[in-house]
Amino acid sequence: METIAVRSTGPLSGPVVVPGAKNSVLKLMATTLLTDGVFELSNVPDIVDVSIMGDLLDAIGVRMSRPEPGALVLVNDGDITPVAPYELVERIRASINVLGPLLTRCGHVRLSLPGGDDFGARPIDMHVAGLEAMGATFKYSHGYLEAFADRLHGADITFDFPSVGATENLLTAAVFADGTTRIDNAAREPEIIDLCEFLVAMGADVSGIGTSTLVIRGVERGSLHAVAHRTVPDRIQAATYLAAVAVAGGELDVVGVRPEHMTMLLDRFGEMGLSMTPTSTGLRVVAPERLRSIDVATLPYPGIATDYKPLIITMLAVADGVGIVTENLYPGRFRYVEELQRLGADVRTSGHHAVVRGVPRLSGAPVKAHDIRAGAAMVVAGLAAEGETEITGVSHIDRGYDDLVGRLQGVGATIERRTVDAAR
Ligand code: EPU
Repeated sequence: METIAVRSTGPLSGPVVVPGAKNSVLKLMATTLLTDGVFELSNVPDIVDVSIMGDLLDAIGVRMSRPEPGALVLVNDGDITPVAPYELVERIRASINVLGPLLTRCGHVRLSLPGGDDFGARPIDMHVAGLEAMGATFKYSHGYLEAFADRLHGADITFDFPSVGATENLLTAAVFADGTTRIDNAAREPEIIDLCEFLVAMGADVSGIGTSTLVIRGVERGSLHAVAHRTVPDRIQAATYLAAVAVAGGELDVVGVRPEHMTMLLDRFGEMGLSMTPTSTGLRVVAPERLRSIDVATLPYPGIATDYKPLIITMLAVADGVGIVTENLYPGRFRYVEELQRLGADVRTSGHHAVVRGVPRLSGAPVKAHDIRAGAAMVVAGLAAEGETEITGVSHIDRGYDDLVGRLQGVGATIERRTVDAAR
């Protein structure tokens, strides 16, 4: 078993490079199912979820290779079996993203139903309802979802909520639909924009990119082509390095980040006392003597992402004052709070609120990573804790973080990976 051991060692300094976004590259990979050809993706993070998505695509018929670090080649030679098996789907939520491309390309798809996450149920009713409005029919049996549509047709779809995954599935499905599809109240995260730009480069007709109304005019099957594309930088990994310097002190050059993708978060970090200046390569961040508490509510983009929340709660745990954090996307996403309490944080939760009363320092202890983002927050908390914090459940962190330990070592943190006896 591997663990991450981290200690508070004073100020961080230097450059840290932000890799490409997990929540973009996985969707770009799934989208290569739409057409034959050789795709080249760059700025690809070296994370386990990319390997799992590669295995899933391999089972379906697209071969992935990594010619060099940060690069992927995906070869779609047209021999596609539109079946996504349980063993792979249950490992990664983004596997649901094969639904749209496979259905619109093959007219049929058989997909194991994705499970929940540690932070709660993750239904796909909006994906299904949207595809039904486009003419698909669905059948559920033995844990599998089967979808059928000889050819989808355009439709006007208004989401109750701007779901990231449902927007992506309908967007990719609409590419070969007969007529025009309009998605209102669509998600507009930077990763959705990246997907839209990828589709347009492939020859799809998508407009309204970056707004909450996407309009997709269907083109003929077979009229797209493979492309080379650079993945958008990962705003959540970037926020992790900002949170790290915020609690450890010091100054970092966060290289590759796109500050315009994180405007609201950076405003709030500014209120907490961080000083941030755009540079030619990204953002220079200087930590204050002590952070100030603020209140924060998570919302769909451009609001504060739910994925930032464990980092924000960790920062509030050592800030001056009391902050209230409200979760509006996943009410159960507070499990890591128990771990922060083990480190001496004063956090109380009630329903979808957390009240965080800052303490000057945390106190190192063994803790567990329950999911990707909670795991990163444990690492950040360890930088603000006296003594050693040892984190188990490292495999969660590896799913979404490209060498978090090495990158933090590079800016002066005392942090290491250890192989320990699982039975200890
Ligand atoms: N929802 C429904 N029905 C649906 C779809 C969504 O009720 O058919 C609800 C969900 O239960 C949730 C809310 O809508 O309450 C948001 O879900 P959304 O569909 O927007 O999220 P997702 O596509 O499943 C992505 C990211 C998550 C991130 C969320 C919210 C990927 C692979 N995952 O999930 O990232 O938290 O958007 O921004 O892109 C992570 O990276 O660690 C992670 C969990």
